[in-house]
Amino acid sequence: MTDDTKLPLTSDNPTEALLAQLREQAPHVFSEGKVDWEKLKATLGEAIDTRPERYGLTWAGKAEAFRAVQSPSVGTLLPMPDESVNFDSSENLIIEGDNLEVLKLLQKSYHGKVKMIYIDPPYNTGNEFIYPDNYREGLDEYLRYSGQVSEEGLKQSTNTETSGRFHSKWLNMMYPRLFMARNLLRDDGVIFVSIDDHEVHNLRMLMNEVLGEENFVASVIWQKNYAPKSSARHFSEDHDYVLVYAKYATTWTPNLLARTEEQNAVYKNPDNDPRGLWRPNNLSARNYYSKWTYSIRCPGGRVIEGPPTGSYWRVSEEKFRAMDKDNRIYWGADGNNIPAPKIFLSEVKQGRVPQTLWYYDDVGHTQEAKKDLISLVAFSDSDSVFDTPKPARLIKRMLQLATTPGEKPDARPHVSDMTAEYRVKGQAHKEINPPEIVLDFFAGSGTTAQAVIEQNNEDGGNRKFILVQLPEKTDNPQYPTIAHLTRERVRRVIAKLNEADVGKLDLDGKAKQDRGFRAFKLSSSNFKIWDADQAATEPEQLAEQLHLYTDNLAESRTQQDVLYELILKSGLSLTAKVETQTVAGKTVHSIADGSLLICLENPVTQALLRGMMALDPLQILCLDAAFHGNDPLKTNAVLEAKSHGITFKTV
Ligand SMILES: C[S@@+](CC[C@H](N)C(=O)[O-])C[C@H]1O[C@@H](n2cnc3c(N)ncnc32)[C@H](O)[C@@H]1O
Repeated sequence: MTDDTKLPLTSDNPTEALLAQLREQAPHVFSEGKVDWEKLKATLGEAIDTRPERYGLTWAGKAEAFRAVQSPSVGTLLPMPDESVNFDSSENLIIEGDNLEVLKLLQKSYHGKVKMIYIDPPYNTGNEFIYPDNYREGLDEYLRYSGQVSEEGLKQSTNTETSGRFHSKWLNMMYPRLFMARNLLRDDGVIFVSIDDHEVHNLRMLMNEVLGEENFVASVIWQKNYAPKSSARHFSEDHDYVLVYAKYATTWTPNLLARTEEQNAVYKNPDNDPRGLWRPNNLSARNYYSKWTYSIRCPGGRVIEGPPTGSYWRVSEEKFRAMDKDNRIYWGADGNNIPAPKIFLSEVKQGRVPQTLWYYDDVGHTQEAKKDLISLVAFSDSDSVFDTPKPARLIKRMLQLATTPGEKPDARPHVSDMTAEYRVKGQAHKEINPPEIVLDFFAGSGTTAQAVIEQNNEDGGNRKFILVQLPEKTDNPQYPTIAHLTRERVRRVIAKLNEADVGKLDLDGKAKQDRGFRAFKLSSSNFKIWDADQAATEPEQLAEQLHLYTDNLAESRTQQDVLYELILKSGLSLTAKVETQTVAGKTVHSIADGSLLICLENPVTQALLRGMMALDPLQILCLDAAFHGNDPLKTNAVLEAKSHGITFKTV
């Protein structure tokens, strides 16, 4: 039996969430708390494909990769204020860690909250490192990898074609991550994934499986190379792909792209029409619109017997006369031209429908990306800091298609938790129009953060970013790991924009833009988590173990570390506002304008518990050890809180 007065310290399990939905929709398929497979089969009838031969993607290790999704994370994210910019106020996040563990930890707080995901995973070219997932001990594996439990860290081997199971390894890495990522998407969200020919065929099948074939939107071709590679053995590759899937493609539509100057340049106004710029259209068309072939008398006297052979007039004679009366027909300077209907710029669609070919002129190329990165973070032009950055313009194109600027930062009411409720006079509210979150969990050099910050700077937007990057070791002493580089790049992008604004009078709200980020890193929990598998069988040893767990706080962690673990595991966002107040002479942390009160004092008193309840939060969290076995005090607190509509939990 689980104790529902205890805050679970493990991440949410997606299978549990699915079961809860099933329980609600089809309670009859459950028997004694478990799904009765025969009943489920009977309910779904012919919708279940039981044939042995089925269409689909399969590979070595798929079942285990799927199980990886179900094993929850027991880690936490430790705040790194010294590595951050505006830690206390920013709503952007840069998280150092293995993205599978991090995605698991984000499930509760960011479920259904992310508007756009962009990822640029390893392409599996045979040269890059593929994270050595070990699903059974995900966090321990990571702690060893990142040197948190031993000095050495894991060997950083690459996935080569000769190392066997080449594609399977890559698919095993991608599958659980895509699965977890989908849960974070909003219903109007969309995911863009960069890839090349090494894995595009597998990725397409994988995304069909995880996101649904019906949600495929486009396979974009990005012209990535500026110059051909004469050293190429077969063809010099000019392009990468960007696969685009919406959470629900039937309802998702991309924003139109801004019209180009070139497109607008064809609109003129030779006759000073008060309706402004226009361009002439062709009155005749080859399509068989109708039998409209009437003759036309021009104002200059010329008679046009009909449209050119094999074509038709676009509009009926009646409509044509009406358009002429409204000065919507241009007859040329002498009034004898073939009549041309005017298309007014003010009446055309105010944007361009996106196309699937993205040229480097519009979205940048790899050389541009490297140059941009070097100019920001390298100490000399020849410094090779990171080999595979994407151009910020490429990601900005995605932001333009899939996100909206949102309310200007200064127009937004103060809301301290962008992912959940906020409180006004004790009442819980949902933010109507929260800022849109952009997630990149293969962040590399942090181009996505740069793109978000720059796009906000350009259109006054209020988008937020969440980046996740492994502390993959580098040979560059300035940036011992790629995660160091990610943070430093973003710090420099921010500094550069802030510098450019110095002395400007009309900042148009820029002073209030979120030019900062909170840095966190994946680590083991701040709490000793009870592991039933390791429990002693002898009563005396078990009692000893339990005694050690009564004060379950791990040593050498700060109050702030503990606080953020509790915020995350309570389902609030890592950027929720944190304030401290004194209640009955003790320190209480008020999270998200008092939605959650956390008290890390030990011991707790009845006056303190009552004082917290009087503040009318949604939830109160205290240390279990702070009750020192005083069960009546705890039971009363739970009951009293319940009577006030407050959830009371201990940890
Ligand atoms: C192709 S790069 C992304 C480049 C990025 N788009 C840019 O513009 O800089 C892929 C990145 O994913 C990181 N990565 C690989 N496996 C990871 C994992 N399990 N968790 C987090 N990051 C990972 C690698 O360290 C690498 O920096």
